[in-house]
Amino acid sequence: MSTQVPKSETDAEAETETEESPGDQRRRQRDEGRSDAAERLRRETEAAPDGDEDTVHLKVFRYDPDVEGKMEPRFDDFHVPFEKGMTVLDALIYARDNYDASLTFRHSCRQAICGSDALFVNGRQRLGCKTQLADLADPVRVEPLPHAEVRKDLVVDMSHFYDQMESVEPYFQTDETPDEELAEQRQSRENREKIKMSTRCIWCGACMSSCNVAAGNNEYLGPAAINKAYRFTMDEREGEEMKEHRLRIVEQENGVWRCQTQFSCTEVCPKDIPLTEHIQELKREAVKNNLKFW
Ligand code: FES
Repeated sequence: MSTQVPKSETDAEAETETEESPGDQRRRQRDEGRSDAAERLRRETEAAPDGDEDTVHLKVFRYDPDVEGKMEPRFDDFHVPFEKGMTVLDALIYARDNYDASLTFRHSCRQAICGSDALFVNGRQRLGCKTQLADLADPVRVEPLPHAEVRKDLVVDMSHFYDQMESVEPYFQTDETPDEELAEQRQSRENREKIKMSTRCIWCGACMSSCNVAAGNNEYLGPAAINKAYRFTMDEREGEEMKEHRLRIVEQENGVWRCQTQFSCTEVCPKDIPLTEHIQELKREAVKNNLKFW
């Protein structure tokens, strides 16, 4: 037997009068959700003053050119519950999911493979997913990569970086293909060892962002593109003709000779690629290539 209380006639009339359309209902629920989130943020922020060791204080760069009132760059504070092993990316995801759904940043693999979450954290280019909060001074300041146009919050325009990468033809090309179909193009162990580190690039753009030369000269190929050129120039399977073609690309006016060996790219590379060393080696190869009696 049902225990549901039947509605009186007056109740039924009142319900008919105040009945919401589905659209109104959705708007109301959304507004309620927003005010709940704002209240939660206020409570958490108040409950977590600086120096609380159970939380981490993030100061996150915010900017949105498309929304009135958010066009002026600013920093927002988020106090995120800290857990052992937590990374900068984890904290950003928490802040976005719990405090402000409009907080925008890139990420994908969360294991230092895709290269999409390079950020400027406490004054240095780092991968958000590889950077432990425990290793950083509080507050943790999170900004977009310097020397790139900011699209929104922590997202920068990577198109110039990709153009530079494309300009060195970052794919395998060979003078001769094997006669037999499906025949292997074998590489010696020594040669594999030589190019091993250069193959680790994940196109995150941290090196380019750290490079003073690239910051001042938009045409400079930059460390990532030159490293990619190194990866193929030094690959013995491509052949001498291709090697010469590749050296012509990197020895151009805005190529290897622009590098001032400041080592900033090498210092920030999250994959520990000896970028400066590779650039210097290509300089030597370019010189040898032009000395015809060698
Ligand atoms: Fe892919 Fe960090 S999320 S490298």
